[in-house]
Amino acid sequence: MTQDARKVTMEKLVSLCKRRGFVFPSSEIYGGLGSCWDYGPLGTELKRNIKEAWWQTMVRERDDVVGLDAAIMMHPRVWEASGHVSGFTDPLVECKNCHSRYKATDLTTETCTICGGPLTEPRMFNLMFKTFMGPVEEAAAVVYLRPETAQGIFVNFDNVITTTRKKLPLGIAQQGKSFRNEITPGNFIFRTREFEQMECEFFVKPGTDEQWFKYWVEERFNWYVRFGIKKENLRLTPHPKEDLAHYAKACTDIEYRFPMGWSELEGIANRTDFDLKAHSAFSGKDLSYYDDVTNERYVPYVIEPSAGTDRSALAFLIDAYDEDIVQNETRVVLRLHPAIAPVKVAVLPLSRNEKLAPLSREIYNHLRHRFMTQFDDAQSIGRRYRRQDEIGTPLCVTIDFQSLEDKQVTIRERDSMAQIRVPIDDLESVITARLNGDNACRKTTSSGKT
Ligand code: GAP
Repeated sequence: MTQDARKVTMEKLVSLCKRRGFVFPSSEIYGGLGSCWDYGPLGTELKRNIKEAWWQTMVRERDDVVGLDAAIMMHPRVWEASGHVSGFTDPLVECKNCHSRYKATDLTTETCTICGGPLTEPRMFNLMFKTFMGPVEEAAAVVYLRPETAQGIFVNFDNVITTTRKKLPLGIAQQGKSFRNEITPGNFIFRTREFEQMECEFFVKPGTDEQWFKYWVEERFNWYVRFGIKKENLRLTPHPKEDLAHYAKACTDIEYRFPMGWSELEGIANRTDFDLKAHSAFSGKDLSYYDDVTNERYVPYVIEPSAGTDRSALAFLIDAYDEDIVQNETRVVLRLHPAIAPVKVAVLPLSRNEKLAPLSREIYNHLRHRFMTQFDDAQSIGRRYRRQDEIGTPLCVTIDFQSLEDKQVTIRERDSMAQIRVPIDDLESVITARLNGDNACRKTTSSGKT
């Protein structure tokens, strides 16, 4: 499908996110705060689901990765050792006329793109946010908000190896907030100054690093496909040698075809032994590893798959967005993978008639313990289906008057809109099967599509 053939645009998606409570501008009642966003009730569920899917795949389903949750503020020497104090900079230029600021490397002209005014010479601008620890604002009290979660992992390498008694190859995975004072944030939640990362530092024996690098590039690409991103909207872009970060021997980006063009979703880097050696030198703590199988001591190499949670959320939403025509009206539908969808099941009594209420509530109270479930009895059933389609709910359960007699309800499926009758006693197991991808009920007779 070409870019133009897709029905999604950034405007449509931002509007849906605001309208339905996925994402709001931060501090909106005060006019918002540049490039900061708040996740609303549905966005919060979506982001939790993404993190859960990542954690499940990266940690719980593997024997060779363990988890960590390090502090956001770390000893300032960490950032000297990592190279961030001296090197985590972007070239900043400013228009002498209207004072607009740009990252010099983003510009294709030598004048301001807003007013045509002349630009200052580039000066290097450090992207780390600084603050002070304790009550005195002095140089000795400066601490940084971490610009990546990775360093919390490197400084805990020895703690984790010692306490888990795990052998290499071993990954340490972490999710959490990172902060960068980006010169040009933008494109909604794509580039912000406060964002979440999902990173794994995978420690390996030097010499096996290139093979593990290939493995992780493939593994991470497949993760996005497993959770519903269309393959044709993903591609791998290796970095040319001259563009590699100071610590990297190789890096490949997983790029997604966002409405504004192909852009990085995740980077997989071969960080060599740079970080462990740097922290050994700066801290005086030996961070080498003793391999008791080969009786060798070495400083491990590190392969790092590093993903952005917010950027993933944007990609999942964009990829799921679709419009079709139902009963002569445009239906907006988020075709999200069930594991990613914020609400799994909506319980919808056919009407607000009081006879339907007790059974509907009973079913809702039962299902909500097993699945993220919504109850909605306002407006016509058709409009309620549309609302659930628009937020990506895979299944709706409808209770009608016949349900009171035959103890059966209707399950309506988001993508095909097919409906089947199911005994209430089987409801939980049928829903479980459907959410796990068992489409058996699609084969049964459909009783109309609304
Ligand atoms: N530890 C390596 C590292 O941080 P990175 O390529 O700078 O590498 C990794 O960041 C991922 O974090 C990116 O692929 C992106 O998904 C996300 N990310 C980075 N900066 C971001 C920002 N300003 N806003 C949102 N996500 C960002």
